[in-house]
Amino acid sequence: MKAYILDRYAKKGALRFGERPVPALRDNDVLIEVHAAGLNLLDAKIRDGEFKPILPYRPPFVLGHDVAGKVVRVGPKARRFKVGDAVYARPRDGRIGTFAEFIAVDEADLALKPANLTMEEAASLPLVALTAWQVLVERAELDPGQKVLIHAGSGGVGTFAIQLAKHLGATVATTASAANADLVRSLGADVVIDYKTQDFDRALSGYDVVLNSLDEDTLVRSLDVLKPGGKLISISGPPDPAFAKAQGLNPVLQLVMRLLSRKIRHKAAAKKVDYGFVFMRGDGDQLQRITALVEAGTIRPVMDRTFPFADLNAALAYIETGRAKGKVVVTVKDDTP
Ligand SMILES: NC(=O)c1ccc[n+]([C@@H]2O[C@H](COP(=O)([O-])OP(=O)(O)OC[C@H]3O[C@@H](n4cnc5c(N)ncnc54)[C@H](OP(=O)(O)O)[C@@H]3O)[C@@H](O)[C@H]2O)c1
Repeated sequence: MKAYILDRYAKKGALRFGERPVPALRDNDVLIEVHAAGLNLLDAKIRDGEFKPILPYRPPFVLGHDVAGKVVRVGPKARRFKVGDAVYARPRDGRIGTFAEFIAVDEADLALKPANLTMEEAASLPLVALTAWQVLVERAELDPGQKVLIHAGSGGVGTFAIQLAKHLGATVATTASAANADLVRSLGADVVIDYKTQDFDRALSGYDVVLNSLDEDTLVRSLDVLKPGGKLISISGPPDPAFAKAQGLNPVLQLVMRLLSRKIRHKAAAKKVDYGFVFMRGDGDQLQRITALVEAGTIRPVMDRTFPFADLNAALAYIETGRAKGKVVVTVKDDTP
């Protein structure tokens, strides 16, 4: 099969378009014919070698964390899906590789694709949707009437998180540039802070939850938005000791993460705020619940651009500009009649 292969870790290095064997199935796997693959900054960060300590993939390997496609084969113990099903997934860590014509995915990571979406739209969702779910539902336990600040509301995670937070009954503030204010309002944001001209930490106070996906300066300033007992949840770091332990990292890495997060943990504790780092995981059951929300029209995907499979490296360079509005996807197998 054709695939984009990472031959060696290299900053901004191009992935090689080459041949790989079609993946073999494990007992609980299904083989998916990839129709569309979503791109994430995680792909670029892994390619650059930034994630080697946490996700030690050994080259050569195929990158790609989001897939939508059709089931073409079913492993001997896989029960939930049948050949022909349209599905989508964020395959679990260690088993990524959606930038290819086929991928074998454990059925526990898989869900039926929302029937009202194209393959491209479906492929845009799993990683960001599960991230938003695991931050707002699992970690924050966001309740109706609570106030949440979602940074970078026009990005991949932000566009989904705003809609999910509204569905959960929260009041939502978000940071975005003026050019994207209408977009984030259309997703349900109640308060929009133009990050280029306004200081969010002066404009907002008494919040229950902040979802941070930006830099350390934003992370620290976000403490001023929260009330005592509030939760500061970061997906862009720094990783904390609880994450290091849950990942089963070695004692040296656990210590490194303790040190990396020391400043923010101490500042948060001084304000009686709970700091936590979330690193999302694949989860087919949660994704199935997301399918229901999308099919009900509660949440819609926000797509910036679709690239042909041949232009995958250009698509990666595009998301690395940090300017994407919503999601970027490559079409691997064109479904248009
Ligand atoms: N830990 C996890 O599990 C996890 C999961 C998903 C993502 N992440 C991380 O979270 C970060 C965000 O990911 P993403 O995919 O959502 O990013 P993205 O889609 O690339 O975000 C781009 C958007 O961010 C906006 N933006 C940039 N700087 C901003 C600022 N200072 N204030 C407000 N908005 C700003 C841009 O708007 P303008 O063009 O108007 O500036 C653009 O629309 C990345 O670092 C990613 O690796 C982590």
